[in-house]
Amino acid sequence: MIITIDGPAGAGKGTIATYLAEKYNLAYMDTGLLYRALSKKVIESGLDPQVNHSEIIELAKQVTVMDTKIPGLRSEDVAAVGSCIAKISEVREELAVVQHGFIEDVRKTGQGAVMDGRDIGTVICPEAECKLFITARPEVRSQRRALELESKNAEAAAIAKQIAERDSSDTNRKVSPVIPAEDALVIDTSDMSIGEACATADKFFRSKCEWDSSF
Ligand code: CDP
Repeated sequence: MIITIDGPAGAGKGTIATYLAEKYNLAYMDTGLLYRALSKKVIESGLDPQVNHSEIIELAKQVTVMDTKIPGLRSEDVAAVGSCIAKISEVREELAVVQHGFIEDVRKTGQGAVMDGRDIGTVICPEAECKLFITARPEVRSQRRALELESKNAEAAAIAKQIAERDSSDTNRKVSPVIPAEDALVIDTSDMSIGEACATADKFFRSKCEWDSSF
């Protein structure tokens, strides 16, 4: 059983993913951390994400699941570079190898997984049994992210701007734009509590499991 959770920044993907993974003892991969880990390596190597594509593709080949544990990946500056390198199709192909390896491993053990990202239900795992697309109004999403990052007022304005830029880049890019899969349930969490959002996702998941006696 694979659950895919796609959607823009700050919509609540991680909260719902963690809830479902804990409740049903599923493995969890936040695929954004692969992009963020690569982004950190790009920044540390002094590479220009607009220019040094071949060097960045070489770095992408070295990214592993363990890199998602690198400290300092959560900042919006890292995410902004992440969004920039996420437009390079060869980078997406290299990071897809890591995601497919993870899916293959959990399929083998029979544990199942929750995967959160941008293109999991559409590109990485179109065969997933349960697909969710989580969204919310832009101002709600940037407020949530500012709270998460414990930012001061001045920084909150900058975060809203960075998220708007990422939204535009992630939605309008040629490769794997952020769009719901045809068979995904779209949940707008703008006016929902965390409990309501998780319960809505859970109900859909359970409806998808009715045929599967292992859940
Ligand atoms: O946590 P948040 O939703 O803000 O972002 P993230 O999931 O950590 O992703 C950071 C950036 O990586 C995104 O803005 C996307 O450009 C890119 N990304 C992607 O293209 N595909 C994914 N599956 C995950 C992230």
